[in-house]
Amino acid sequence: MVYTNRFKDKVAVVTGGASGIGYGIVARLLAEGAYVVAADVNEQRLKELEAQLGERFVGLKTDVTNESQVEALAATAVERFGSLNLAFNVAGAAKAGVITELSEADWDFTVDLCLKGVFLSMKHEARQMKKFGGGAIVNIASLNSHVPMFAGAAYTSAKAGVEMLTRNGALEMARDHIRVNAILPGLVDSPLTASLLENSDIHAAYMERIPFKKAAQPEEMAGPSLFLASEDAAYVSGASLLVDGAWGTSGYPDMSRFM
Ligand SMILES: NC(=O)c1ccc[n+]([C@@H]2O[C@H](COP(=O)([O-])OP(=O)(O)OC[C@H]3O[C@@H](n4cnc5c(N)ncnc54)[C@H](O)[C@@H]3O)[C@@H](O)[C@H]2O)c1
Repeated sequence: MVYTNRFKDKVAVVTGGASGIGYGIVARLLAEGAYVVAADVNEQRLKELEAQLGERFVGLKTDVTNESQVEALAATAVERFGSLNLAFNVAGAAKAGVITELSEADWDFTVDLCLKGVFLSMKHEARQMKKFGGGAIVNIASLNSHVPMFAGAAYTSAKAGVEMLTRNGALEMARDHIRVNAILPGLVDSPLTASLLENSDIHAAYMERIPFKKAAQPEEMAGPSLFLASEDAAYVSGASLLVDGAWGTSGYPDMSRFM
């Protein structure tokens, strides 16, 4: 890997930055010269990372479904490091259930975290970015923005929403010189998917469908995410980049057999 220092002295916020894809983005941003504020509900992990990662990193306990906390997150980046230029909205998780059985609480949990959380983050990140002449926002959606998943209606609907929120943001924020794009990961080996991938039958069902025959590592989401945030993507806004080992060409496995 060649690091070019292309984000030297830029200030970034990463939600969900304590784990998985978010942490992969944090590590790459630091390696490329940025200052990073990672937001997560996992306070203990944030503290461990602060001890490891040095002075260009701050961890802030933040629930992305809580507007005042998200507002404070964007303000903290400016207070600690002097501006806000880049944001990666990664925090997400899901509660599964077929539509006829899914509780209102499980729907709300998933849609609030995966969709409202991105809305609130974009709102307050962009308000700060405007003050510094613009910036770039990258939202983590999913292959499931396009492809349904058995017992995944809340998640797939929220992720489809993230893609449209990205496009709407790109439309509205262009006048403020803020670009907004989405990454649509396929299967990524992270704590979120660990229990699924430990089941050998489920693992095999995924591999039948994924042409690359493997899950991505979280770091493999960082490169494409940073590309969209970089000057190389200066004329890219409202785009969705599938990063899925060609999975979008085949389709989701039939998960009903595991229910
Ligand atoms: N892993 C995959 O296969 C995959 C595929 C497509 C999309 N995604 C998406 O990528 C994103 C990251 O997933 P991951 O695989 O890295 O999972 P992960 O569980 O490793 O990381 C998610 C992080 O979000 C944090 N988080 C949860 N709720 C939060 C909240 N309310 N406020 C702030 N932080 C919160 C968690 O503590 C965790 O650190 C999610 O949006 C997920 O939907 C993942």
